[in-house]
Amino acid sequence: MVAKNVKVYLGADHGGFKAKEAIRHWLKEKGIEFEDVGTYSHEPVDYPTYAEKVAKAVAQGGEHTVGILACGTGIGMSMAANKVKGIRAAVCHDEFTAQMAREHNDANLLCLGERVVQTGGETLKIVQKFLDTPFSNEERHGRRVGLIAGIEGAPAKARKPAARAKKK
Ligand code: RB5
Repeated sequence: MVAKNVKVYLGADHGGFKAKEAIRHWLKEKGIEFEDVGTYSHEPVDYPTYAEKVAKAVAQGGEHTVGILACGTGIGMSMAANKVKGIRAAVCHDEFTAQMAREHNDANLLCLGERVVQTGGETLKIVQKFLDTPFSNEERHGRRVGLIAGIEGAPAKARKPAARAKKK
């Protein structure tokens, strides 16, 4: 995934509203295509509503679509988003977890905890790392991502681990 070719669906609840606003400004400044599904104020709302909107848009959008969801911890958003078939949502608290979520897990949805990652600058570094890091495409990571898809009902073939799995 390269930030320039991607469309970002962005959402938050009240706990992640400030982070979402910072990300929205940043995406605009960078010229990255995005759609903000809300929430649009600090007024308390229910995070699953926004997780569902973003996750469904990403699942329908395919390869060059990615989601970013912010709440207080990132946890509720990831739980809700991962209920949608085809979504691999990852809670990332730093650049390392963002990089691994892309390289190893081919995550298509980044979840951020505004109350965990408290500095605006760090949040944007995590977003940048997530958007700029491609999936490694190494066989073992592809196989494991396939196994995740298998859990949500992909053909049995995708669930069978390869015999010569290297450990890492
Ligand atoms: C809202 O107070 C908070 O629970 C929510 O933003 C999120 O952290 C849930 O996981």
